[in-house]
Amino acid sequence: MTQLTDIDQDLERFRLTRSGFMRATVVSVAALGAGGAASLSPSRARAAPPKGTVTRYPLHVPPSTSPASLTLAEAPAVVDLGGGQYSNVLAYNGFFPGPSIVARRGDAASIHLVNGLSEETITHWHGMLVEERNDGGPKYAIPPGASYDYAFTINQRACLNWYHPHPHMLTGEQVNLGLAGAFIVRDDLETALGLPYGAHEVPLIIRDATLDTAGNLQYKPRTGGFDGQIPLVNGTRSPYLAVDSGLYRFRVLNGANARIFGLALSNGSPFTLIGNDGGFLESQTNLTRIDIAPAERLDLLLSFAGLSVGQSVMLRDLRAGWDLLEFRVVAPGTGAVPTLTLPTISKLSDPVTTRTFSFDGMSKINGKLYDMNRIDFQVPFGQTERWRFTTNGNAPHPVHVHGASFQVQSRTGGRGTVYPWERGWKDTVLLEDNETVEVLIRFDAFRGNYLIHCHKLEHEDMGMMSNFQVV
Ligand code: C2O
Ligand code: CU
Ligand code: CU
Repeated sequence: MTQLTDIDQDLERFRLTRSGFMRATVVSVAALGAGGAASLSPSRARAAPPKGTVTRYPLHVPPSTSPASLTLAEAPAVVDLGGGQYSNVLAYNGFFPGPSIVARRGDAASIHLVNGLSEETITHWHGMLVEERNDGGPKYAIPPGASYDYAFTINQRACLNWYHPHPHMLTGEQVNLGLAGAFIVRDDLETALGLPYGAHEVPLIIRDATLDTAGNLQYKPRTGGFDGQIPLVNGTRSPYLAVDSGLYRFRVLNGANARIFGLALSNGSPFTLIGNDGGFLESQTNLTRIDIAPAERLDLLLSFAGLSVGQSVMLRDLRAGWDLLEFRVVAPGTGAVPTLTLPTISKLSDPVTTRTFSFDGMSKINGKLYDMNRIDFQVPFGQTERWRFTTNGNAPHPVHVHGASFQVQSRTGGRGTVYPWERGWKDTVLLEDNETVEVLIRFDAFRGNYLIHCHKLEHEDMGMMSNFQVV
């Protein structure tokens, strides 16, 4: 059987599963609209922008919540994307994005997940170091109406993680229709740095979306990855953020199913990069452009001190040529970018073994489709290993590992370099065509079953995922 035939079969299976879900989703949203409290008139006024200008709407900032005794319900909701443009979405507790979970190292999380969808789901805490039963892998999916209880202690460096559904073959759709939120971990080292906080620390969940003619989020999977027509930041269409001319900390997550963003400022000013997936980097770097793949995170400092009240600057995506978010200076502020002494990072070294993972086609790792009940390999607890990621095409493949962070060692072929935002601790790394990326990894938190997969969610759903066991 040729590889193309395999891909066609995967695709067919994927489409069949998906079409069943999409019908179910439409029914439940319609039912909500007919009788639910959230029912909204479609004739709600939408101010027509004057020709040639783009009307911009205030950036949504999701409410914050503690993970102690938190109930999270995944359910259809109607949300305002900005300026009264109401959209049917799937949301956590009615918010798109979901509430930002904020906790300190040492805190206990006790989260009650309720499935208010018409399909199975489960929530994964991307980047959190938790036991298998708290990791929310596809094996733990729960049916509609059911609930699942998580209980874990937060024990890792300060960082921006996130949460999203992880049911097999349905992750792309559920995330794309709105289910994702930030999970921020704080610690004493972070506090000691005295970074901007409150209104000066802003999460930015950047993604793309496609709206149907009624303005509802619409999921149109493609095997090469979902390709949305418009950007959304924190679920806001054409957003602006009113800022003062001071210092800000932006916690950036690429929450797109498949799209890579090339972030830059319209005036060419640099961002100061201080952290990524696994928390702070060892040193800060000024960069005028940063490419961020799905599921990657960035911790950026930006001072608007060079701008006066009334001026603005645009956060842009240089890949699609999109305006993502306008920063409007509305008040004077203070603060230049400080020179920080960031926490040191102990380097992994001396790997005892090397494993190679080939991301094949659009649905396989090392020639195999995901099988929920198959454990593909075992990793000794506490052993440092070299993992080598390769591909025979169909990239980008943002490679993600559950259960541990890794340190990127090298990228050969393709772009041929490790970028400043790929240093430190990572849990997701971008693999482009012709590239080999090597990382060092050590599982020293928990034994149990974890996942490695492509975080282009359409590839993941088609089977580009593998179970392994830490023993
Ligand atoms: Cu963000 Cu296994 O996923
Ligand atoms: Cu994950
Ligand atoms: Cu992929």
